[in-house]
Amino acid sequence: MKVKKAVIPAAGLGTRMLPATKSIPKEMLPLVDTPVLQYLVEEAVASGIEDILIITNRSKYAIDDYFDYNPDLEARLRETGKTKELGIVRHPAEMANIFYVRQKETKGLGHAIGKARQFVGNEPFAVMLGDDIMMSEKPVLKQLIDAAEKYNASAIGTQIVSDNVISKYSSLKVSPLEDRIMKVSDMNEKPKLDEKFSNYAILGRYVLTPAVFDLIDKTEPGYGGEIQLTDALRELCKMEDMVAVDFDGKRYDTGNIKGYLEATIDFALKHEEAGQWLREFIKEKAKTL
Ligand code: G1P
Repeated sequence: MKVKKAVIPAAGLGTRMLPATKSIPKEMLPLVDTPVLQYLVEEAVASGIEDILIITNRSKYAIDDYFDYNPDLEARLRETGKTKELGIVRHPAEMANIFYVRQKETKGLGHAIGKARQFVGNEPFAVMLGDDIMMSEKPVLKQLIDAAEKYNASAIGTQIVSDNVISKYSSLKVSPLEDRIMKVSDMNEKPKLDEKFSNYAILGRYVLTPAVFDLIDKTEPGYGGEIQLTDALRELCKMEDMVAVDFDGKRYDTGNIKGYLEATIDFALKHEEAGQWLREFIKEKAKTL
C-alpha cells in the first residue's frame, strides 16, 4: 500500500475563534508567523504525500492565494534584495500539488470527505483535520502510513484522553496488536461517558481505503444532525482491517482559544529568533503572577 494523496477538510465556520475568523479562514490563523495550514502541508510532504486536496467553502479564498505565487510582492522583495523573505513567500506555492474543492453546504465531516472521491480515485489516502496540529519527531502522518502499510489496513491516529474530554471526540474500541498499534473493531462519535468504548480518542489523522466513499454515501445524519465520518468508519472497520496508532507526539486543537494559545506558546518557544527571548519573558512574567 502506497499513500501519496491527502485530503485536508478546511470548510468549517470557525465559530469558536470569532471575531478573528469572520474574514480570515481559521486555517490561515498564524502560529507565531506561519499559518496553521502550512504546518499541515509540511507534515504531509514530510510523510511522502505528493498531492493534497483542500476542501474549502466560499469564504476561504485566502487559502488558494496563500499556496500561489504573489508576483507583486515577490518583485518588491527582489528589488530590495530581500532574498530570504523571497524564499519564504515562494515556498508554500512549491511544496506540493494542491487541489481545491468547495463543500457547498455545511453538512459535516463525512459529507466533506465525500467530496474527495474523484480526487482520490481507487487509492488509499490520508485525511488530516485542519484544526489538529502535531509536534513530533517523526511526522504523525508518517507513523500512520507506516502502520497502514505494515498491516495493509486503514489507520486511525489516537491518544488516550481523560474522561473529562472523551465526549468531545470519537471513542475507539480496540485490542492490542503491538506496542502503540491496536486493532479497531468499533467506535462512536461524541459518546456520553457511559457510552465510551475506551479513552482512546480519534485525533485528527487517518489513512483510509477508498471503500469509505460508498459507506459515506449510505451514512445517515448522526451526531449534531451531520453526516459523521466516524459513522462511516464504524462500518469500514467491520468490512476491512483497521488499526489505531497511539502516535508519538503532541497534538494541539488550534480551533479553540485555549488550544490555539497552547500551540502558539509551544511553537514560539521553538522559534529560531523568538524562542530564547520568550523563555526569558515567561520567567519574568511568572514572577508577577
Ligand atoms: C472531529 C471528529 C472526531 C474527532 C475530532 C478530533 O470532531 O468528528 O471524531 O475525534 O475531530 O480529531 P470535531 O472536533 O470536528 O467536533
